Amino acid sequence: MRTDRLVVRRFTMADVDDFCAYQSDPRVRKFLQGAPQSAEEAARYLAAQAVLDERATSAWHGYAVQHLESGKVIGDVGVYLVSAGEGDVGFQFHPAFHGQGYAREAMVAFLRYVFDILGVEHVTAGCDRANAASSTLLQRLGLHPRPASPDDGDLRFDLTRDEWRAQP
Ligand SMILES: CC(C)(COP(=O)(O)OP(=O)(O)OC[C@H]1O[C@@H](n2cnc3c(N)ncnc32)[C@H](O)[C@@H]1OP(=O)(O)O)[C@@H](O)C(=O)NCCC(=O)NCCS
Repeated sequence: MRTDRLVVRRFTMADVDDFCAYQSDPRVRKFLQGAPQSAEEAARYLAAQAVLDERATSAWHGYAVQHLESGKVIGDVGVYLVSAGEGDVGFQFHPAFHGQGYAREAMVAFLRYVFDILGVEHVTAGCDRANAASSTLLQRLGLHPRPASPDDGDLRFDLTRDEWRAQP
């Protein structure tokens, strides 16, 4: 998937240094669960992603976001395919590239792939209530927040393929 400034593509083993540079950054981890991956874990993860069937269900599919100008992988987007028709999306980007529209640009292309190529019919996403960047990005992409009480944990969002296609 190519956009004006980015390529969204499968990971390769050559991406491990770029991947480690952002996924272990405390500013990226702030609202993410779990510990950052060690260099060995990251290498195993990228090796597995590189050969994963893109339609495999009950699996997380991470895609590298490569910055055309620098050639660097500056983040990733991904989808957990719950089933052939349902996926939960996520994203993380290097802090040096935040606030410049890169996540939105990558996710517009990625959602087109998820809905039109993979044939997913319903996309969900979740984020910490305090994660304003993620919540804003999801809503700019057209996902709508589920009604929730203040006692609920993470915010949850939905978008159907029909809603996506009906967007201007
Ligand atoms: C969430 C994240 C991917 C956003 O990346 P980004 O490249 O900075 O986002 P964009 O520049 O494309 O901005 C998308 C929208 O969110 C808004 N936004 C970005 N950062 C924001 C912030 N800190 N607070 C409020 N809104 C913010 C932008 O203004 C933009 O809205 P607009 O189109 O109306 O201007 C990035 O902050 C990140 O990697 N965070 C750490 C990892 C993470 O929390 N991932 C999500 C887990 S659920």
